[in-house]
Amino acid sequence: MTIHIGAEPGQIAETVLMPGDPYRAKWAAETFLDDPKLVNEVRGMLGFTGTWKGHPVTIQGSGMGMPSLSIYANELTRDYGAKTLIRIGSCGAMQPDIKVRDLVLAMTATTLSTPSRGIFGDLNFAPCADWGLLQAAAAEARNHNVATHVGGIYSSDVFYDERPDLNEQMVRHGVLAVEMEAAELYILAARHKLRALAVLTVSDHLLTGDALPSEEREKSFGQMVEIALAAAFAG
Ligand code: HPA
Repeated sequence: MTIHIGAEPGQIAETVLMPGDPYRAKWAAETFLDDPKLVNEVRGMLGFTGTWKGHPVTIQGSGMGMPSLSIYANELTRDYGAKTLIRIGSCGAMQPDIKVRDLVLAMTATTLSTPSRGIFGDLNFAPCADWGLLQAAAAEARNHNVATHVGGIYSSDVFYDERPDLNEQMVRHGVLAVEMEAAELYILAARHKLRALAVLTVSDHLLTGDALPSEEREKSFGQMVEIALAAAFAG
């Protein structure tokens, strides 16, 4: 047990999928894993461990935002030995050629700040995805008939953004989409020698105001789980 995860030693797999929403973790585990078992319910941040094609997998909610994800990613890694962390979540598109429902694979993530800011000081560290996972996810996405975009995203600390001027600069510099977790996930992966990737579905569009209807969110989410699992165990 850790402060935020109630699992016993050995109950967490080396491969962990991390949706923001704990109920998505439950749905994904019950839908895609064999023999899923609840391994964490501290603070309602549900985590389940089961197997996929015989491989042990944990699906653990991360909560929203980098401070929350950082707590779970640190404990999963340091205390339970997790080695591959794949975020599955939603994002808001920032480019005109990206549409709601499209898939975004985050190669890197721009930020204003992350929980690791204090370590880096003046340094602008460039967080990046694991190349093997990124390549495998892009290959798997071709089996899913979904428009897929690979590139830089923005990991924001705020959902209700008060800096449209910054968004303008990101649009201008080709940032694909905004979400709230990937940058710190990638920084922790660099620090702890993990493999990490963020697989994201476009749930809304910052330029057009389009939004994914709620009944379609489950389908898109299932697709991300399949892509993340295939990428984790490719090759
Ligand atoms: N902002 C931040 N995070 C998000 C958004 C957004 O517009 N859409 C989905 N996740």
